[in-house]
Amino acid sequence: MSRKYRSPVMDRRSFVKIVTSALGSLMAAVVGLPVIQYFISPAFGKEAGDDWISLGTLEDYPFNTPTLFNFTLTKINGWERSSQSYGVFVLREEGKEVVVFSDVCTHLSCRVNWNPEKEGYFCPCHAALFDKHGNVLSGPPPRPMDRYETKLDGGQLFIHLREG
Ligand code: FES
Repeated sequence: MSRKYRSPVMDRRSFVKIVTSALGSLMAAVVGLPVIQYFISPAFGKEAGDDWISLGTLEDYPFNTPTLFNFTLTKINGWERSSQSYGVFVLREEGKEVVVFSDVCTHLSCRVNWNPEKEGYFCPCHAALFDKHGNVLSGPPPRPMDRYETKLDGGQLFIHLREG
């Protein structure tokens, strides 16, 4: 009479089931994790808009005349990519710290222009006028022109661009 011996812990069928399940899970992880990472990584990526932007060499800006500098930034927000143009006025005065103003009017966000005859920044939308240092002279703007934080590094002028 032959006797079948069985393992007290696990039979062959259970062992094969467990090994197959483990290998299946491992293969799913190997294939699935990169796919999941691809889909969720943009949501955790660094957003543009909190950077130091170079405006070039400080010596290139003349004294006492606000000088316009334009640049474009591309932002990546999740899966969305968008470009935005900026304009800033650099005011360099003898013996004073350089000041950089946004060219966006503080009333309804039109772009202001430097007007040498009026010695001020003029907003064409509602005829507002700011003085050379960004203070409101006339018109509806509720506050002076916005300024950027600046730094000098190796003769290069930088502004800190912070977006909300
Ligand atoms: S937007 Fe500049 S004055 Fe209204």
